[in-house]
Amino acid sequence: MTKTQSIHKAVIPAAGLGTRFLPVTKSMPKEMLPIIDKPVIHYVVEEAVNSGIDDIIIITGRGKRAIEDYFDAAPELEMRLKDQHKDATLKRLKEISDFPTIHYVRQKEPNGLGDALLKAENHIGNEPFAVLLGDDIISNRKPCTAQLMSVYSRFNASVISIEHVPREKVCHYGIIKGNEIEPDLIRIEDIVEKPSPEKAPSDMGAVGRYIFVPEIFDCLKNTDPGVGNEIQLTDAIHLLLRDHPVYAYKFEGKRYDTGDKMGYIETIIDFALRDPELRDNLRKFLSDRLCQD
Ligand code: G1P
Repeated sequence: MTKTQSIHKAVIPAAGLGTRFLPVTKSMPKEMLPIIDKPVIHYVVEEAVNSGIDDIIIITGRGKRAIEDYFDAAPELEMRLKDQHKDATLKRLKEISDFPTIHYVRQKEPNGLGDALLKAENHIGNEPFAVLLGDDIISNRKPCTAQLMSVYSRFNASVISIEHVPREKVCHYGIIKGNEIEPDLIRIEDIVEKPSPEKAPSDMGAVGRYIFVPEIFDCLKNTDPGVGNEIQLTDAIHLLLRDHPVYAYKFEGKRYDTGDKMGYIETIIDFALRDPELRDNLRKFLSDRLCQD
């Protein structure tokens, strides 16, 4: 067996149009929606960095420039905060410039997640890499990507994160079929993108974290347009399965789907309830508000 290569590169696809959040996403990337005072994508980059990733490429598209501005340094702003002795705010701002250098590549046409990922091929080269979808936040002490890396290093194979989804929602996910080989770990036999509840092979859906061997790029190139007439990552995983094992891992942690309105509201409330400055007032507000109904 060949030696397992360590994973230090990550791709964050963030080119999607964000139609579920129109009209606000007309002029603002959905990945920049604020969770109180940090955008969603901040948490995604933070997870990558906390998992040991030191090379990040974000796939953007038209109207996504705010993402690049956010991760750029802001010397004038930092200077002003320093002069005003706003040290805590300055520290928070510096955390962003301390992230590793982020590379950007544009997806010119919105041709789907699979096509977006293919744009990272030159940067990734011939090594395994992580993928973190730009609108999913997964909160846990050991980051979800680090959990997947542990599985990768045991099996030297691609691995995707999954969770049980309600039957009526399987049509929003890539749904796997496979056998549990040990608790929380499944060897995938097949995967299908956004099936109807009647056709779904299970209720286990892929969520936004993956580790891939570089062979996924050849599979993406051989993938025809699928659901929504777009190149689907799920269909490329289906091809990868012909010659390569792929595992699914029921990760530890709470996933927040910020691309969904209800998921976004839940994220803000949960994060505010964890914030010592906001917690007490929010609790009081919520209980008063609920009593009125
Ligand atoms: C994408 C993937 C899907 C996956 C989902 C997780 O769908 O195509 O397989 O289950 O992300 O959030 P999207 O949410 O972009 O429609």
